[in-house]
Amino acid sequence: MSINEHPPQLHVPVLLDATLDILKPIQGENYLDLTAGYGGHATRFLEATENFEESVLVDRDDYAIERLSPLSQQGASLLHTDFVSAARSLVEQGKQFSIVLVDLGVSSPQLDQSTRGFSFKSNGPLDMRMDRRQPVSAETLVNTASIDELTRIIREYGEEPHGFAKRIAMAIKQARPLTTTEELANLVKEEYRGPWKRIHPATRTFQALRIAVNEELRQVEEVLPLLPALLKKGGRVGVISFHSLEDRLVKRYLKEQQDAGLEAELQIITKKPLDGVNYDVHNPRSRSAKLRAAVKK
Ligand SMILES: C[S@@+](CC[C@H](N)C(=O)[O-])C[C@H]1O[C@@H](n2cnc3c(N)ncnc32)[C@H](O)[C@@H]1O
Repeated sequence: MSINEHPPQLHVPVLLDATLDILKPIQGENYLDLTAGYGGHATRFLEATENFEESVLVDRDDYAIERLSPLSQQGASLLHTDFVSAARSLVEQGKQFSIVLVDLGVSSPQLDQSTRGFSFKSNGPLDMRMDRRQPVSAETLVNTASIDELTRIIREYGEEPHGFAKRIAMAIKQARPLTTTEELANLVKEEYRGPWKRIHPATRTFQALRIAVNEELRQVEEVLPLLPALLKKGGRVGVISFHSLEDRLVKRYLKEQQDAGLEAELQIITKKPLDGVNYDVHNPRSRSAKLRAAVKK
């Protein structure tokens, strides 16, 4: 497939034009995509840089890696691993990039395929692993974690009030073994006392378990300090986050850089984050997306 023939989109990339506008890829520059997914961003960046050979695309999901093969056939390197391991290994090899992109969260296929177990909207196994080689799935957590641990996960990562989180945790313990998304969604719905309209009561519990299974916040926390070493002087990095827990970590890291004065390695280029509501109005997936960007001094 030539670069001009885009494959049918399994996942519509968020804030695509805003990302290109702010990171300004130039012909010849090399590109590192730490969450390459279905290559929506990568395809457009590589079209602009035309530098496939020195570009690297990372994803921990085998299904995504498989779909990135048209880009690897044109010369880009693929790394099937989590982005912290990828970043550490690239830093060790002394590799540096003109552009680094991190588009956090889940992809549409992860949510849409019931067999992946990410969504309460269709019944499937309680899986939620982005990397299916890892041993711990949502089923493992739900059936083995203590009530305190489940309460903490649902409260911290689902941002549910403590009382409701604990009720869900106790109900889970009582209903063990749970094996399907439908069982879990129904259990949370039964614990929810009150009317609900748009947002299903299980939304936050599913988000919480997904974050825990994939250690998503630890991954973000650990990759941020590696970014300066991955960038060439004048190189740009963009991070797109989807919920306040992720965005808070990105914002705090960039603020630390700003406060470091002369010691700072990065300079913020988005005074305020670019959000999907204003910068990607036609893409419903962008509604809660926020893009922050910085340049290496
Ligand atoms: C929102 S999608 C990215 C979509 C991509 N920008 C595109 O345009 O197709 C996020 C992707 O990042 C991957 N991912 C999330 N966290 C990761 C991590 N810690 N390490 C590696 N890949 C990760 C997911 O598997 C998913 O494919």
